[in-house]
Amino acid sequence: MLKPIAVIFLLHSAVRCQFLILEKRGDPPAGFSRIGPTPVDQVLNLRLALTQGNITGLQDTIYEISTPGNPRYGQYLTQDEVNHFVAPSEGTTSLVTSWLDSNGLTSSPITPAGDWISVNLTVSKANEVLGADFSTFQNEDTNQTVVRTLAYSIPTSLKADISWIHPTVNFPSARGLGSPSVQNITSRATSATPPISSISADCRESSSWTPVCFQELYGILSAPAKPAANVLAVSGFENNFANERDLATFLETFRPDMSPNTTFELISVDGGINNQLPAGSGIAALCLAPDIQYTVGLATGVSVTFISTGTIPNDFYTEMLDQAHNLLSMTNPPQTVLNTWGSLESQVSPQIAISLCNVYAQLAARGVSYIVETGLWGAGGIPFDTDCVPFDPPFPATLMPLDFRSSVTAVGATEFTTDETQETASSMSGGGFSNFFQRPKYQDAAVDGYLRLTGNTESTAFNVSSRAVPDVSAISQVEFILDGEDINFFGSTAYSAEIFASIVALLTNERIAAGKPALGFLNPLLYQNPSAFNDMQVGNNPGCNTDGFNATAGWDPVTGFGSPIYPKLQEACNKF
Ligand SMILES: *[C@@H]1O[C@H](CO)[C@@H](O)[C@H](O)[C@H]1NC(C)=O
Ligand SMILES: *[C@@H]1O[C@H](CO)[C@@H](O)[C@H](O)[C@H]1NC(C)=O
Ligand SMILES: *[C@@H]1O[C@H](CO)[C@@H](O)[C@H](O)[C@H]1NC(C)=O
Ligand SMILES: *[C@@H]1O[C@H](CO)[C@@H](O)[C@H](O)[C@H]1NC(C)=O
Ligand SMILES: *[C@@H]1O[C@H](CO)[C@@H](O)[C@H](O)[C@H]1NC(C)=O
Ligand SMILES: *[C@@H]1O[C@H](CO)[C@@H](O)[C@H](O)[C@H]1NC(C)=O
Ligand SMILES: *[C@@H]1O[C@H](CO)[C@@H](O)[C@H](O)[C@H]1NC(C)=O
Repeated sequence: MLKPIAVIFLLHSAVRCQFLILEKRGDPPAGFSRIGPTPVDQVLNLRLALTQGNITGLQDTIYEISTPGNPRYGQYLTQDEVNHFVAPSEGTTSLVTSWLDSNGLTSSPITPAGDWISVNLTVSKANEVLGADFSTFQNEDTNQTVVRTLAYSIPTSLKADISWIHPTVNFPSARGLGSPSVQNITSRATSATPPISSISADCRESSSWTPVCFQELYGILSAPAKPAANVLAVSGFENNFANERDLATFLETFRPDMSPNTTFELISVDGGINNQLPAGSGIAALCLAPDIQYTVGLATGVSVTFISTGTIPNDFYTEMLDQAHNLLSMTNPPQTVLNTWGSLESQVSPQIAISLCNVYAQLAARGVSYIVETGLWGAGGIPFDTDCVPFDPPFPATLMPLDFRSSVTAVGATEFTTDETQETASSMSGGGFSNFFQRPKYQDAAVDGYLRLTGNTESTAFNVSSRAVPDVSAISQVEFILDGEDINFFGSTAYSAEIFASIVALLTNERIAAGKPALGFLNPLLYQNPSAFNDMQVGNNPGCNTDGFNATAGWDPVTGFGSPIYPKLQEACNKF
């Protein structure tokens, strides 16, 4: 009787040996300490990223359908066509499912393509199945706790099938970056006098800007857009929402030519709320109020939808993934999406960054223009991080799919100051070079031009061969309504992104009303048309205790090509 048991034991050990450590880290990141093991019966919700079938094929396709002049320009894919590229192979799905089955676990797909599946299991089961040590870690600043492990394994035979599992070794940002950021610019309050003759005296003399001033400055149409099946979506995360009453006050005050009843639709993701409780719109209100006011109030006549994503505690970037997957599950996703949330590359794990890249690539394939801000940390580094060479660029602004063709458009900041009567780079404008992602081909000429002009063909502070941001920029000081009050002393690249997103939504509307497809992933079009922007040549973006980058003739890592000139963009967008 002893012999068979020994054999079984040996077999069992042999199986245990064929495990591969998929991810590990030595210690928790700075700012977190382990306070003990997690109770073994606590239930974890783990997400498994399965290997996507043909992400390279998808990226090739995006490049073709997004490049004006390509015969496939504008031929966006359906949900099924995108799923066809990213769905894991049948072999992958069945191998992973039977491995989970053999451990008594069930999974369910959480994305339309089935490339992500989720499993609920207890800590003891997770420790056993993944050879992990799930423990409770505490954020030393906030005292918030998270459950993570410093390493985990999968059967070696599934190496090619499972990309990564979350949440495991990736911690949230210790500094809680994620919500959009604004700067109190009271001390810089200006009496700017833009010399542009077409600008009304009111706009010339104001220190912050209203929709009418942007219409004058950038040539944005004020007449309502023609009816068209076109939606501009505004992103909220962590249950922050957009206030309807403040929007009505804003329209009454600043767009008396519009109905004050003009409002927005709601999409809820992960139970995201929009309960309109007074002063309840959350920490991000300083951005969400203008986010909704400068989309409804500037993209005149375009339908606006607010996407409220709920809270996944300590897992902000999973909320972003969920938002994108929700959009992918729609037959007709919004054509333009504004997302003013994010942080710095160093605060994001490479796995999450790559997964976000791949999901935004899918949105690009569906014809969605996804617009983000570059943040207000200048050339990089959070204000209290003075020693941060190499520079820490903004995220998700630097995002692009795996083979490094960008799938989001990043907007930096400009301003008028007392010293300058021209629109110039704002010193807070986030911009620089990615530490993760290669430079996409469409950026080569623009970025090489900048590097040659400034003699920066080599550097230790930034990677000259990687994705550079921003792509474009716009004014960063706007007047808006918050809790019934008129606010005009904050500046943010979020405001710049709102203005640009509204312009994109109007341009998209013109195409759709003319029976053409939407603009989709914008960058190849933008980089073909540098002259559709007001080139910023004054200013820089200090960061990391340095002077940062300079705005120069042509593209630069402070303002990209500069601020939009609507009539010229209109011409470029309607050509194909
Ligand atoms: C991936 O997609 C590309 C582009 O459609 C296609 O040419 C290629 O054959 C596909 N590869 C696989 C393995 O399906
Ligand atoms: C895991 O639990 C959540 C609720 O906590 C539930 O929504 C989800 O369907 C469960 N997933 C599986 C695969 O059972
Ligand atoms: C964290 O806990 C310590 C010890 O209980 C306490 O002194 C501190 O105020 C707490 N910090 C926060 C932000 O709650
Ligand atoms: C902005 O800064 C000014 C001057 O530093 C200060 O008086 C004001 O209270 C600040 N406003 C807010 C809302 O923080
Ligand atoms: C706005 O809505 C109110 C209440 O439904 C209505 O009385 C008013 O006429 C509307 N105003 C406009 C301009 O449509
Ligand atoms: C620079 O970026 C490229 C690709 O993006 C990468 O291969 C290289 O390792 C990076 N170099 C440094 C020093 O970060
Ligand atoms: C920016 O311009 C200043 C003044 O012309 C110059 O000293 C500095 O080297 C420039 N910085 C970079 C990064 O090119």
